[in-house]
Amino acid sequence: MPATRKDADVPPPATRGLPYFGCVAALRRNPMEFFQRLAVRFGGITRVPLQAGRSLFLVSEPRLIKELLLDHRARFVKNTRYPAMQRLLGQGLLLSEGEAWRRQRLLTQPAFKPSELKRQVDWMSCYVARFLARWSVHARSGQALDAELEFLRLTQLLAGVLVVGPRFEAEAEEMFRISEAIKHAWPAPPRGILAGFRKPARERAVRLEQACGDLDRLVQHFIDQQRKGTAEEGGILGTLIAGSRKEGRPFSDQELRDQVVTLFFAGYETSAASMCWTHYLLATHPLVRDRLLREVDEQLGTRTPTGEDLERLSYLEQVLQESLRIYSPIHSLSRVATAECPVGGFKLPKDATAVVSLYATHRLPEHWPDPERFDPERFTPQACAARYSLAYIPFAVGHRNCIGGTLAMIEGKLILAQVAQRYLLDVAPGQRIEAMAATTMRPRHGMRMLVRARENQMGR
Ligand code: HEM
Repeated sequence: MPATRKDADVPPPATRGLPYFGCVAALRRNPMEFFQRLAVRFGGITRVPLQAGRSLFLVSEPRLIKELLLDHRARFVKNTRYPAMQRLLGQGLLLSEGEAWRRQRLLTQPAFKPSELKRQVDWMSCYVARFLARWSVHARSGQALDAELEFLRLTQLLAGVLVVGPRFEAEAEEMFRISEAIKHAWPAPPRGILAGFRKPARERAVRLEQACGDLDRLVQHFIDQQRKGTAEEGGILGTLIAGSRKEGRPFSDQELRDQVVTLFFAGYETSAASMCWTHYLLATHPLVRDRLLREVDEQLGTRTPTGEDLERLSYLEQVLQESLRIYSPIHSLSRVATAECPVGGFKLPKDATAVVSLYATHRLPEHWPDPERFDPERFTPQACAARYSLAYIPFAVGHRNCIGGTLAMIEGKLILAQVAQRYLLDVAPGQRIEAMAATTMRPRHGMRMLVRARENQMGR
């Protein structure tokens, strides 16, 4: 029986853990699989004991996710208890709350309207085509491609130009260096109560601060340039400066910095992870790949795709959706209760941390039979209509949903289609594949892939 009830005023059922340490070890080993096991065993909601008497509450059942993220949304705030995340993103859209968040969202939202995004497709398509040309060297030499790094570079380029305009290109390499430095200095999950005082943690903190300092300087350079330029040339940054001036409350440099960094990091890392996993799935499911190639050949041939073309690539879209189910780049969401709150008929105390594991919910057998199977047929219009919509939330739901969801789908389709036009990617021999729960779901051992040019000459 799923853990939901209508008439109770009691805490949710709890899973057992070790004295004092609770379930910390299982969570560190593999939080995604741990949450999945709990979701299958307990259903709707479970209390998970952590270290020193603390707990979190895992909310898995889609109807309870609706209660948490939609019906009772006013009683929850984002979980901002991670100092490194605060340092990197500041008070941008992802972490801010209340009036500050509302104002930013209202001023940023127009840039993500479908009609506005349609205007961006042509330049994005050209950038993708230009970027993919560099893979022909790998196709000729047979040398494996580091697909994870390549997709990071490509999605950074697209996110950077979108956020600060074409001037990003001149700084793309520097931004890549900084973001890699941040990734490698990012705090590892604490290994005990003294973790923060140990040497590696201190060294990492120093390196993280250096990289964030470099980032601040680079973003300030973009802001200074844009303050001298026109709104048209400055991407979303230009729109934010112009929009906030028009309201009579111009954003400060700090506010602009936080917004630029948030949009950039939220935009590229997730999209890169999605591309990496989708190409892995295609490489390991030849029948799906053949069907996708046929659709791309029929609909596009060797033409650079336009916005209208993308709408016709329906099977490709299903492939992307199914990939986002199995490998959701954001594998979990976390909220903190500002007041006691009922969820599924159980009582969540004030200050409780509620976690939604997209990884677990996207694998609930009652919504996703044979959940590990990669099957794009799950996303035909008929199959989607027959399913409860909140069983699938790669971009979250509610007022704090992903502002870039539509953009991410456009970008993903552009990249998938143009890779398919030119190349076949296969997992390199000896490459170990394991999903790891970092800030996004990454391949723990990287993703080296072999590139073959297709017969149509595009990838030569
Ligand atoms: C496949 C790609 C993407 C996935 C899977 C994804 C997923 C998500 C999810 C699940 C959230 C909610 C996080 C939470 O509640 O804690 C979110 C929020 C957000 N995403 Fe995305 N995202 C993607 C691409 C993008 C892109 C391309 C952009 C912008 C360029 C973007 C910008 C944001 C921002 C700013 C937020 C915070 C919104 C707010 O709180 O108002 N994302 N994303």
